[in-house]
Amino acid sequence: MTKHTPNLKAEKILGGVATSQRHDSAHKHVTGTAVYIDDMAEPAGTLHACLGLSTVPHGKIRAMDLAAVRAAPGVVDVLTAADVPGENDISPTGLHDEPVLAEGKVQFHGQPIFAVIAETREQARRACKLAKIDYEELPFVTDIGGLDPLKDKLVTKPLRLQRGDAKEAIGKAPRRITGKMRVGGQDHFYLEGHIALAIPGEDHDVTVYSSTQHPSEVQHMVSHALGVSSHAVTVEVRRMGGGFGGKETQSNQFAAIAAIAAKKLKRAVKLRPDRDDDMTATGKRHDFVIDYDVGFDDEGNILGVDFIFGARCGFSADLSGAVTDRALFHCDNTYYWPAVNAVSAPLYTNTVSNTAFRGFGGPQGMVGAERVIDEVAFATAKDPLEIRKKNFYGPSGDKKGDRNVTPYHQTVEDNIIQRIVADLEKSADYAGRRREIAAFNANSRIIKRGIAMTPVKFGISFTATQFNQAGALVHVYTDGSVHLNHGGTEMGQGLYVKVAQVVAEEFQIDIDRVKITATTTGKVPNTSATAASSGSDLNGMAAQNAARQIKDRLIDFAAEAHQVAKDQVIFLPNRVRIGNEEISFAALVRQAYNARIQLSAAGFYKTPKIHWDRDKGRGHPFYYFAYGAACSEVSVDTLTGEYVIERTDILHETGRSLNRAIDIGQIEGGFVQGAGWLTTEELVWDDKGRLRTHAPSTYKIPLASDRPKIFNVTLADWSENAEPAVHRSKAVGEPPFPLGMSVLHALSDAVASVADHKICPRLDAPATPERVLMTIERVKAEAAK
Ligand code: MTE
Ligand code: MOS
Repeated sequence: MTKHTPNLKAEKILGGVATSQRHDSAHKHVTGTAVYIDDMAEPAGTLHACLGLSTVPHGKIRAMDLAAVRAAPGVVDVLTAADVPGENDISPTGLHDEPVLAEGKVQFHGQPIFAVIAETREQARRACKLAKIDYEELPFVTDIGGLDPLKDKLVTKPLRLQRGDAKEAIGKAPRRITGKMRVGGQDHFYLEGHIALAIPGEDHDVTVYSSTQHPSEVQHMVSHALGVSSHAVTVEVRRMGGGFGGKETQSNQFAAIAAIAAKKLKRAVKLRPDRDDDMTATGKRHDFVIDYDVGFDDEGNILGVDFIFGARCGFSADLSGAVTDRALFHCDNTYYWPAVNAVSAPLYTNTVSNTAFRGFGGPQGMVGAERVIDEVAFATAKDPLEIRKKNFYGPSGDKKGDRNVTPYHQTVEDNIIQRIVADLEKSADYAGRRREIAAFNANSRIIKRGIAMTPVKFGISFTATQFNQAGALVHVYTDGSVHLNHGGTEMGQGLYVKVAQVVAEEFQIDIDRVKITATTTGKVPNTSATAASSGSDLNGMAAQNAARQIKDRLIDFAAEAHQVAKDQVIFLPNRVRIGNEEISFAALVRQAYNARIQLSAAGFYKTPKIHWDRDKGRGHPFYYFAYGAACSEVSVDTLTGEYVIERTDILHETGRSLNRAIDIGQIEGGFVQGAGWLTTEELVWDDKGRLRTHAPSTYKIPLASDRPKIFNVTLADWSENAEPAVHRSKAVGEPPFPLGMSVLHALSDAVASVADHKICPRLDAPATPERVLMTIERVKAEAAK
């Protein structure tokens, strides 16, 4: 024991909150020592599964001849729907519209019908090809371009948001434009594909290692499919090699099939589809057809907007209801629509069921808002940035409130977009570069440059209120080391290190004293998907709550044992001051143990304030908003449509950042992924209903070399969360994704220059080089008329 007065300010623990910490596994990711499920030591006798996929987009299964499959070398069993002991359903919505294995009919090309279980993966794959299935083919629809969003078949109930009388406002407005925009889908292209390893236990028990963002749902789906109680199923995931929303529900099928096979055959079963099967058989980002009708005045003030958001949902509901809802929730982006009507149309198609993808429909909604801005800017011959600023929500604190109400009747209380955009305009020298670009274009016949600045406002919380809860489990061992577990999953986004920082901060111990452990349904139950960017908000608070319970017990114990007042027990870096004495954290823990103090706690958190009435289209679905803006400059070869991103400047806020290094990584990655969505990533279905883009050879995600040549990413240091979220930070996972819109609009600006900015290019997404070239030709032709 030592007695001295410490310098409280100078000393800090290693790895507390608001410090830049590397991702806890960064070194393992790059050296290949991070253990993904396919790297785990396989139990003796592990079998391997491969899925047999439908070869028609819609049809009745007349007959299935699997004799050759069964007879193939190494094959141990072939499972069909008849082998599902429980319910043949993995629909996450309870609509019972999504079978584990197709039964009687198929609804998209690539739908899993049977599963081959063999001694090796190669044998399972070869055997799959030997199936003879006789289909009665039925008419099918894959594209939504020809559908009527208000009349055709939907997979779930649409949503309408309404404030004021949009039809009347648009009718009375001095000017009016109607149009249509298409915005493409996106494959998740996680580096680690889907995988499940199921290990059978005694009785009904099974343990499933699943690459999933939602272990609790996998647990429930596996238990339904097996027809056993949830308590028999344990699901564990240490990390994913990327999820991006693609592992929120899509892991269910792989886990269920592996578990069914493992229980039936009493051997471990691993199911890891190859990349082509993964891309063919799993859902993607929804592509949309957006119909818009906007009324405005000669100054570019928008007076009324009417939107229809039609989305390709695929053959089942999956998360399409919530995704199309979120598109509507973001059809305002940062803009105040004085009168607005917006409806969603979650359209049925004979394609794989589309699902969550970073932003969860929000980016598609924002793209619609930005198209409307572009239209009004061209119609009034003003800089789009001027139109944007003119139509922003009123600054925060505008108590008149008449320019702060969203289409869903939540008042925006934390608006900082004016400041974000003003700061970025200055640091990116928007005005100066716009002039330079005009001068450049005047002298450059073939290469044309373009620039655009686009804002982002993203709502944080699950819109289904019940999902906004989380649990954590913290143990303190007698050597003072800490075992941390919570319901959130790690997919590369840095959630684990952030939550560990929160716990280290709470106990005032170095972060290496806190062990981050794999997410498992056996430790923290009934968790939500790690999604909606709420991972650290929810799990950070739950872990803090658990740590505080233990800390409070330690304080009570220390005060009593050392006969001091409770406020005389102070947690200093790696030690505790008790009255005039100081002992190490570990020593206090040891004393507490000897006095039989409980050193373990389960924590809990639920987000306050939020509510939502979907039928009325009213409520307060978001706890707060996250803001940012990006300014991109591109140059386009007008003979080929090829382009490069010359420079991007981003100013984004994450409140009082828990971890600046991680947050900046999320912003960079989110922007690049968003830009990829809107530029090079294109999904193509052919006239037989087949997805033709199911491998990196045909589907182009951005390369490192596609990033902006100059890339300046800055956190808005002055921002802090007005709500008491964990350490006043803000969520960062999805909000930066739509910053990629700045690239689409910079391309639009470059294209418009071929006709002196007189024609709105109406550039659809993805703006592939082909589409850019075709748009250039169309704009030129229109200008020549
Ligand atoms: N970052 C990485 N590296 N990998 C991912 O899969 N998923 C994104 C985002 N950032 C993802 C990512 C998505 S879709 C979400 S919802 C959030 O991370 C989820 O994590 P969080 O809630 O902890 O931010
Ligand atoms: Mo993210 S799309 O909410 O998993």
